[in-house]
Order: sequence, then structure tokens, then C-alpha cells
Amino acid sequence: MTKPRVFVTRVMAQEALDKIAQDTDMEVWPEELPPPYEVLLEKARDAEGLLTMLSDKIDTTLIDTAPKLKAVSNLAVGYDNISIAEATKRHIVVGNTPGVLTETTADLAFTLLMTAARRVVEAANYTSRSQWKTWGPKILLGQDINNATLGIIGLGRIGIEVAKRGRGFNMKVLYHDEIRRSEEEERQLGVEYIPELAKLLSSADFISVHVPLVPQTYHLIGAAEFALMKPSAVFINTSRGPVVDQRALYQALKSGQIFSAGLDVTEVEPISPDDPLLTLDNIIITPHIASASFTTRKNMALMAAENLLAGLRGQTPPNCVNPEALRG
Ligand code: DGY
Repeated sequence: MTKPRVFVTRVMAQEALDKIAQDTDMEVWPEELPPPYEVLLEKARDAEGLLTMLSDKIDTTLIDTAPKLKAVSNLAVGYDNISIAEATKRHIVVGNTPGVLTETTADLAFTLLMTAARRVVEAANYTSRSQWKTWGPKILLGQDINNATLGIIGLGRIGIEVAKRGRGFNMKVLYHDEIRRSEEEERQLGVEYIPELAKLLSSADFISVHVPLVPQTYHLIGAAEFALMKPSAVFINTSRGPVVDQRALYQALKSGQIFSAGLDVTEVEPISPDDPLLTLDNIIITPHIASASFTTRKNMALMAAENLLAGLRGQTPPNCVNPEALRG
């Protein structure tokens, strides 16, 4: 029996590749940079399965050119790079990797929060550039994390883990979400629901965004929202870049409307070397590494492999974002 053709768009954990190779005719894109869109189109033409990264666009055109495609498995919890409606229409199941990366992602969000609050990158540069001449009562002052108010936008799996980290630092934790948690959950987590986003933005010392990128969250945080924040506010985004209007963020940071920011995601990735944000001292930008620990990336790869193989067998992947694709 011929094995199903599968294209994996990047080298990932060997254990996961070995699993896929056992049951499929697998090709792995060997480069560090993603396959160009034209290459992806060509590979998809006779593939039954694709294992993709968040940088691979799986749109209507690609789905139209892939008549045999049965499963797309994304190595990420987010799947805004994939046209889910189109995949579902074509009975293609789409898998993602929730859960395994939750705490690792929250760890990085909190790392950015602490780093931006206490100006750690600026301070390290100050030392390495031999600017450290003495101890001074006004040198490199930052914002206190302990006992401050943390505002979380989107209290899903990752938002909850960030809330826990905040509680560990004696922070008061507020959250805003479309869906309110039960009173019992709120009590257990020690969080307070704020129905109006504006109120959360004006009350919090730290604001951390944890929403998916969907049409309703595009530029959720823009000039009007930054204007509501405290001048001492520290703003963190580890969700998706386009949730934040980056030009508005630049103005807010440059003018001192807010104190500092930490981003793991940008509107365009990688960020352009000419982006004005890169000229500022009061922002830290990491290159979309929130889930990048050895263990988490291995677990993500194994989960993505399982999702792919289940989809190829005509089953609903264990983590499937469109189980309705197999109905009807
Ligand atoms: C995701 O999983 O969506 C992250 O952005 C990458 O780990």
C-alpha cells in the first residue's frame, strides 16, 4: 500500500519526525527560512498532509490547488495563518497544539513584564557599554511589580497562567474577556472581572494581552487605548502582533504616554530593521519565542505529529480546531 505524501515545512524535533516517517512518505523542508509560498503550493499539489508553522499561509488558493489534502497540522496553538472556513468546506481537518505550551508561554510573558518594568535590557547594556560609573539614587529606576495591579486581556489558558504568576508577586489581578469565568474560578484564581476594557486599561499598572487574532481583535489596542493607560504603565503582548497598532504603540512609548513595553510578536514578522520601535530604549522585542523551550517544542512537535497522523487516517485529530470538517 502506498503511504500518504506529507510535507513538513521545517525541521523539528526528531522524535516527531520519526513518528511521521513511519507511516507516511514524508518530505521535510530543510531550510531555516520558510518555504516560499510558490514552493508550498507546489508541495501541497499532491500532499495528503501538511505539517505547518505559523509563518506558512494556508489560504483558499493553496487549498484549491491541493485536491488530495486531508489534514493540516499547525505547530502552534494559534491558527490565524490557516483559512479554517475553507479547510472545513473541503473536509480538511486542522490540528493545533494547545496546552503543552501554556506555562512556557506565560513564563515568557512574565519575563517580558519583569524585564520591561525593571529596565533589565537597558541596565545590561549600560554595564556592557561601560556606562556604570557609580551607584546612584536615581539611576535606572523602574516600576515595582510586587503589589502592583496586573490587567489581563483574555483569560484563557495562557492568561490564567499569567494571572497565577502575578498572584505569586502579590499583584492585584484584573481581567477583561468576552466570557466571564464563574465566581468560583475567579475566587480560586484571585482575579476580578472588569466588564469594560477601558476601565481595565486605566486601572492597571501592567497590561498583558492574551487573545487570539480574529477580525474582532485586529488593532484591539490602538491610540485610544494607549491614551487611557497610566504614564507608568507597562504593556506586554505575547499573543499576535496585529492585535496591537504598532504605530500607536510607538507614539505612546516615544511621548511617555506609557512607561515601557515588551513584545514577543510584531505586526510583521520578522520586524523590519527600519521599524521606529527599534530606536526606542523603553521596549524589548523578542522574536516570537514564547513557546521556545526544549521540552515544550518537543511536546508541540509530538502533538502536531499525532494530529497529522490521525487526520491522515480519516480520524478527528486529538487537538482539532474544526471537527465539523469530518461531518456531513
Ligand atoms: C503559538 O503556538 O501560537 C505561538 O505563537 C507559537 O508557539
